Amino acid sequence: MKFFVDTADTADIRELADAGLVDGVTTNPSLIHKAGRDFLEVVKEIAGIVSGPVSAEVVATDHDEMMREAEIVRKIADNIAVKVPLTIDGLKTCRKLTDDGTMVNVTLCFSANQALLAAKAGATFVSPFVGRHDDVGYPGMELIADIRQIYDNYQFDTEILVASVRNPIHVHEAAKLGADVMTAPPSVIRQLVRHPLTDNGLTAFLADWEKTGQKIG
Ligand code: G3P
Repeated sequence: MKFFVDTADTADIRELADAGLVDGVTTNPSLIHKAGRDFLEVVKEIAGIVSGPVSAEVVATDHDEMMREAEIVRKIADNIAVKVPLTIDGLKTCRKLTDDGTMVNVTLCFSANQALLAAKAGATFVSPFVGRHDDVGYPGMELIADIRQIYDNYQFDTEILVASVRNPIHVHEAAKLGADVMTAPPSVIRQLVRHPLTDNGLTAFLADWEKTGQKIG
């Protein structure tokens, strides 16, 4: 499963990329706002930090304007994936962009039928939001399971990019279900590394090593 980091904070991206933990990056208008930086500038910087797909979202809601914005966004770098919302205009834009070879991430997906439409529109990625699904009492992971089954039934190439990931359990369950990608905030990715028994075991190893009085080299 590919790990994308869900942020526009370039310091976090650099740190996790240096650790070899980043296969791509996803941003959205809220994350751009949180970063407090110029949209085109920060996306260009991010696209230079990671070689994998970098999702950057258009903010127009009608097809013609989406296409105009997409022309600007996709020219930022070769590894840009243009993000469009799961609406009729978003699907129309997805079809047009993917037909000429541009990566498209169809976002704000909350049903298996929406994901089916995204695949039929040729989406590179579809982003079902599991955390927000959980927030309203619907098990987000059941949505992922349904999409996985439907995509496998028809051998769709669209990659399931699990988004709105809030904790390590979401990552664990997404991997068990065979999602292609998960995108998570830097904090969640860092949580994946930690286990108290690992910490305790390392402390014990080093304490015993200290007793040997030896050094390596
Ligand atoms: O990629 C979508 C993600 O940023 C949304 O996360 O926690 O606001 O639902 P959240």
